[in-house]
Amino acid sequence: MFDHTITDIEKNGFVGDVMEKFVIEHSGRLMGRVRIGGSKNSVLPIIAATLLTDKECVIQDVPKLTDVLIMQNLIEDLGGKTAWTEDEKLIVRTEDIVKTQASYELCTKMRASFLVAGPILARCGEVKISMPGGCAIGSRPVDLHLKGLAALGAEISQEHGYIYAKADKLVGANIYLDFPSVGATENIMMAAVLAEGQTIIQNAAVEPEIVDLSNFLTSMGAQIRGSGTDTIKITGVDKLHGTNHQVIPDRIEAGTFMIAAAITDGDVFLENIVIDHLKPAIAKLREMGVEIDEAEDGIRVKGSPDRKPIDIKTLPYPGFPTDMQAQFLSLLTITPGTNIVTETVFENRFMHVPELIRMGADIKIDSRSAIIEGVQKLTGTQVRASDLRAGAALMLAALAATGTTEIHDIYHIDRGYYNFDTKLRELGAKIRREEKTC
Ligand code: UD1
Repeated sequence: MFDHTITDIEKNGFVGDVMEKFVIEHSGRLMGRVRIGGSKNSVLPIIAATLLTDKECVIQDVPKLTDVLIMQNLIEDLGGKTAWTEDEKLIVRTEDIVKTQASYELCTKMRASFLVAGPILARCGEVKISMPGGCAIGSRPVDLHLKGLAALGAEISQEHGYIYAKADKLVGANIYLDFPSVGATENIMMAAVLAEGQTIIQNAAVEPEIVDLSNFLTSMGAQIRGSGTDTIKITGVDKLHGTNHQVIPDRIEAGTFMIAAAITDGDVFLENIVIDHLKPAIAKLREMGVEIDEAEDGIRVKGSPDRKPIDIKTLPYPGFPTDMQAQFLSLLTITPGTNIVTETVFENRFMHVPELIRMGADIKIDSRSAIIEGVQKLTGTQVRASDLRAGAALMLAALAATGTTEIHDIYHIDRGYYNFDTKLRELGAKIRREEKTC
């Protein structure tokens, strides 16, 4: 099963090597059904967590998007073997970790690569890893990750852009996070499951992806209580075993398709979702006048041009997700009245705004808020995706804009949405993916 060694990234080139663009025409009302895939933000830490055992782990409903392929490559580079099945299962087995230094090239491509630090440290007693890369949405430090690993007994040093952590034995500790960081909570959880004694993480992140990781670890034999609350208690065990786990649906992909329906005054049914995880997006869309019917097997979103203006403030879960801010902002550009969007989670997450202004939007930035006066229409032009969700926001704006929009640097979008253009086309969107000639 594991006899292939060439991953998709090696076959297709690294992120950004193939220059492509999306060409999008005004698309009319999107109609039909769309199946939401497995959660990117769940599956990345879950793949990292497979490093905690030498046994086989099977992960189901894994979206084959670029960030996942980067994590897969990272695991292979460390000595793991991976294989895909036709039905989107990823099988991972790391009998031996052959090196404790994570690849510089892969780590600088994606911030989530830093999530291998906790597992490698817990399994091998040391890890060397470069400072992470990823979306350019603020400084995004890793101090809370390091604070947690140090509290578990790791000696940490930094030089020339690398972090080196070493611990002959990790020992459970009480760790208070100054901010409920998703990544720090995950890294500390993964290190603590093999530490001696009890770890308590206070002010932990409560995102659904934390609960999914916790369920994955528990199915491997870890002892974790309280995930999904702000206090997580972990009792270390000596060894973890293999497992088979189904990843939760991607709430951000779901939210993005909800906006696709709303912004085109369409009528779209979303399958494979957890309604609870979508509450903030559903509440805001209903406040605007978008019709949402909850069914047993999904939700139906019916847009209408008579939308009311709203205010949004991003917050850690269960507040409004920062990963949905850009997509909502696109919808607000053509919602009559004054809309205010305040970003509190990341310091530099309005890079889609200048691009939306190029399309005719009326937006002013005041510190951490964007003030959006709804205009009657957006107009297609050439725009650039600066990061993953900004790219998604431009796709959505382009569906509703008159004329033709060209979106460049779409590798950002491919990092986090699997088959996005195909799924939108199936709903009636007029999108072409073209190779760029420059
Ligand atoms: C994860 C998600 C990302 C989402 C974000 C917030 C993944 C792979 N990515 O990112 O899509 O936007 O949660 O919901 O799951 N911070 C520090 N020190 C640290 C760590 C974080 O100051 O050590 C700050 C960050 O700069 C940021 C805030 O905390 O301002 C939130 O970051 P965090 O929750 O850690 O986000 P990520 O795990 O990077």
